[in-house]
Amino acid sequence: MSKKKNSLKIIKSAREMRKVALSIKGKREIAFVPTMGALHNGHLSLVKKAKTIADIVVVSIFINPIQFSEKNDLKNYPKNLQKDLIELKEIGVDYVFIPKPEEIFGLDFQTKVIVKDLQQHLCGLKRKNHFDGVTTIVLKLFNIVKPHKALFGKKDMQQLLIIKKMVEDMNIDIKIIPHRIIREKNGLAMSSRNTLLNKKEKELSANIYKGLKIGKSMYNKKSNTKSINIKRSIRSFYKEVGIRNIEYVEIMNPKKMTYPKEPSKKDFIAVAVRIGKTRLIDNLEF
Ligand code: PAF
Repeated sequence: MSKKKNSLKIIKSAREMRKVALSIKGKREIAFVPTMGALHNGHLSLVKKAKTIADIVVVSIFINPIQFSEKNDLKNYPKNLQKDLIELKEIGVDYVFIPKPEEIFGLDFQTKVIVKDLQQHLCGLKRKNHFDGVTTIVLKLFNIVKPHKALFGKKDMQQLLIIKKMVEDMNIDIKIIPHRIIREKNGLAMSSRNTLLNKKEKELSANIYKGLKIGKSMYNKKSNTKSINIKRSIRSFYKEVGIRNIEYVEIMNPKKMTYPKEPSKKDFIAVAVRIGKTRLIDNLEF
């Protein structure tokens, strides 16, 4: 475990990052936390966990243009590099990799990594090419950073499942470590996008988690446990409290992304809504 604080090294070139990774490989273990910056406590919790499971922690900060389907979404994505660096240094991260877009996706970049089926659900239906963009950048970052372990938050459950599948299908020698959802005091799942919410929207957003808990308690009480009824109750709750723009409320099995008629312990409820202009997702495992 790396113990030294205040020794954060910033690396801006892929070639240098690879060189560093190769010099570590075989001697010490690297844990990797890929991010798009604007770090919140959810990210910091991932980074703290990374420190407990490896000798060296590498965090990347890269707003990946190819995973955004809406131009404005990319333009408005929150940034806070100076604060991010202070926090990473404080935790005692060893390396932060901040590549330039032109170095990652040069003019002649032609390759796409596609996990076909798992993306035909939930966010994949609405955000065209989003997951192709995620898998392509994550594989590229894996090849540059060469970690033994990589950590991903469960808030982006579909992303986590897709990355696990890519790793399995492509025999990538990296252990994917899922990490629990970190929530604000009012229950809202932490996300960089939360900074885009105004006070009223933030208050309204607290109901996203409340809706999920209503669904889970129906399952726990063994009353009305058909997925269709649980989903209906969550939707009506959202409408009642004023969340009108509901993209999806689904109950899924994480293995194959199937839709069980009656959920079981392994399954999860996933939701996506828009509050004002901000798209928010959350999920809860049964
Ligand atoms: O979850 C994210 O922040 C991004 O999708 C990731 C994994 C850093 C890839 O750009």
